Amino acid sequence: MYTSRITGLGYFVPENIVTNEDLSKLMDTNDEWIQERTGIKERRWIEEGSNETSASMGVKASKIAIERAGLSKDDIDFIVFATLSPDMYFPGCGVQIQEMLDMQTVGALDVRNQCSGFIYALSVADQFIKTGMYKNILVIGSEYHSGGLDVTTRGRGVSVIFGDGAGAAVLSRSEDSSRGILSTHLHSEGKHARELTVESPSIAHWVPELLNNPDDISYFPYMNGTFVFKNAVVRFSEVIMEGLQANNLSVDEIDMLIPHQANLRISQFVQKKFKLRDDQVYNNIQKYGNTTAASIIIALSEAWEEGKVKEGDLVVLAAFGSGFTWASAVIRW
Ligand code: ACO
Repeated sequence: MYTSRITGLGYFVPENIVTNEDLSKLMDTNDEWIQERTGIKERRWIEEGSNETSASMGVKASKIAIERAGLSKDDIDFIVFATLSPDMYFPGCGVQIQEMLDMQTVGALDVRNQCSGFIYALSVADQFIKTGMYKNILVIGSEYHSGGLDVTTRGRGVSVIFGDGAGAAVLSRSEDSSRGILSTHLHSEGKHARELTVESPSIAHWVPELLNNPDDISYFPYMNGTFVFKNAVVRFSEVIMEGLQANNLSVDEIDMLIPHQANLRISQFVQKKFKLRDDQVYNNIQKYGNTTAASIIIALSEAWEEGKVKEGDLVVLAAFGSGFTWASAVIRW
């Protein structure tokens, strides 16, 4: 069996900064409420009229990751793309990456696991590399949320949270088992699917039905915030411990915990529970909001660029989100 290592990282966020103050002009909200509840000060939203999409942002992040891996697009054997905001109902964004990067006809897989999407995608790629099937896999998380949010007061409980952006990692085969992805841990509990969801359009609720009913808001995200919060803090903690125990590691050995950037209060709860210092946990939700499948890979790329993830470090990724799904990855950098 081989080991997989992250050899290249990159991210892209749109230039357009939307502050809490900007949102208060669209809906009945304010900076104090948003910061107190979520920690978010601003987020990036694709500018209206721009051609940017989840796939195009994914391409930009991928180019950086491939270059940093010291590879060319033709060295990539497979694509895994995680998003809840694909450009098309079908096909998925993975095939768009194949075309937009002018890659060979490699396989492309889309993962639809929302906030846990990047860790699920990483885990899939890890298995393909471990077994020797592929050598270099491009793993992408990208979200174009802003086009699908209810930016009126009706949607304020959800729309202030989400931001747009993309991140990418190149996962490569290694024969050094002491470094790389040590393990990944994936979970789901579908009975809570409706607590955090976008129900339409779907085969059950198709577009004509929506158009005939202007009050139908099933195509906007719905979130039972308090319920999500309570489940998130429990599952984050469980899945971090599961990852550590699987590798005979303890909490104090963590050099960097990168939690999915759901809400700063959730990250702070987990940090406090595990008694981690500020420098052991990376958060950037303050400036990007919650970018769902992109959040962990944007945060990991940024932390790495800032020199906060170094060779030999124990890096733990953890996520919880819609599904519900939750997941962790334990990496020796
Ligand atoms: N601005 C001002 N007031 C608002 C806003 C807003 N943007 N949104 C809601 N309110 C109001 C509500 O209408 C309500 O008013 P009322 O008391 O008069 O009815 C009041 O604020 C409290 O609303 P709650 O929904 O109870 O607010 P809560 O304190 O639960 O905070 C929040 C909401 C921040 C979403 C919280 O539930 C939370 O953090 N949940 C965790 C879920 C999460 O982080 N999800 C992220 C996405 S999912 C993921 O990535 C896992």
